[in-house]
Amino acid sequence: MANTVILGAQWGDESKGGTTDFLAEGADIVARYQGGDNAGHTIVIGEDKFVFHLLPSGVLHPNTVNVIGNGVVINLETLFGEISDLEACGVEVGDRLKISSRAHLILPYHRIMESWDDLGSGLKLGTTARGIGPTYSDKMNRHAGIRVADLLDFELFQKKLDFNLAAKGYALDQIGGEIDRQALLEQYYTYSEQLAPYVADTPELLNDALRTGKRILFEGAQGTMLDVDFGTYPYVTSSNTTVGAVCTGLGVGPQAIHRVLGVSKAYVTRVGSGPFPTEMPPDLDEEIRGIGEEYGATTQRPRRCGWLDLVALRYAAQVNGFTGLALTKFDVLDHLDELRVCVAYRRRGEEVATYPPSLRVLEECEAVYEILPGWKQSTVDVRHYENLPENAKRYIAFVADFLNVPIALISVGKERTQTIVCNEDLL
Ligand code: IMP
Repeated sequence: MANTVILGAQWGDESKGGTTDFLAEGADIVARYQGGDNAGHTIVIGEDKFVFHLLPSGVLHPNTVNVIGNGVVINLETLFGEISDLEACGVEVGDRLKISSRAHLILPYHRIMESWDDLGSGLKLGTTARGIGPTYSDKMNRHAGIRVADLLDFELFQKKLDFNLAAKGYALDQIGGEIDRQALLEQYYTYSEQLAPYVADTPELLNDALRTGKRILFEGAQGTMLDVDFGTYPYVTSSNTTVGAVCTGLGVGPQAIHRVLGVSKAYVTRVGSGPFPTEMPPDLDEEIRGIGEEYGATTQRPRRCGWLDLVALRYAAQVNGFTGLALTKFDVLDHLDELRVCVAYRRRGEEVATYPPSLRVLEECEAVYEILPGWKQSTVDVRHYENLPENAKRYIAFVADFLNVPIALISVGKERTQTIVCNEDLL
């Protein structure tokens, strides 16, 4: 059985949750390896819509075990909120959720520290304000980080908390971010008791599963262009969103990975600040946002919409070694007369064929487009590749040829069943 990584090929929001949920049917384990509750994975089943920020997207499948790995940063309020929301809908998480004792915790002061960092640097990153950056900073700093294991050893937790409140006290005072130490301790004592049953030796669990031939889906959050190393730094998130994070965020070797499925919308969206060479003109941007319901699942912010950027996508395919591509929200383009795809950039009169590492250079780049004819026909009811309109197939073939990556699946709507599997062997 193939173990597949599902990760975002763009700036996040590529409908990875839906793709993971679709594939989770045949998986024994779904494991998240990075990010935190900055993610928003939406899954639609019939009339029901579920949005998960932290729980892996396999929780809706009753036989799937869900792992939150050491590379994830955990907001316990979000975690227990999601578990109880699910229980209210009749879905028991129970012992199907396994959390790494090495994962770091997001504490209330991390969210406050985020605005302090924005204020001090004058750099508005447009984050999700979930305290992700400060939590990963504390992890790397080592003195300040608090892990799940520390919470279970409550005396140690208190010591670490006091160190943090003292170390961050000046900043917290300056921006009026009051932390009630006693209330926090009481709340986290309750959390520690709630959390204990879910905590497991996740590398051991995953490696056992590998030895016994179980199928694992590795679920990425955010997208390649938000990777702290390979993305549009500093307008990125604070974790590695690319394939290497599977190994470091879960404790499995690279041999565990058989397929790397990049997920890309048939166009591009981006939330937050940063250069975006294929951004659509305002009227089309608004139209696509309306049809695609392009509003952040975590922050409700309107997403910026753009034409498919094949220069960025080829870069993502390279960095991650995509073995297949999932093209999502294909139906959003159904009505267009013609479609643009960016095949290069132009800067100061010269063509740029590769994704520039410098933001300054990227800001000066304009997109060079290939124009393809639209298919002007609804695809929402299509379930087999051969039944797609000819111009839709032409668009798909153009993308696959340019990237030299085969298309594994296409989604033509929000519902689980609105999926066209092009090549099962790539999943
Ligand atoms: P942070 O991850 O909250 O620090 O935000 C850093 C950048 O990543 C901002 O531009 C966010 O909009 C973006 N971002 C973080 N998580 C997601 C996501 O799940 N989808 C899309 N953008 C995201």
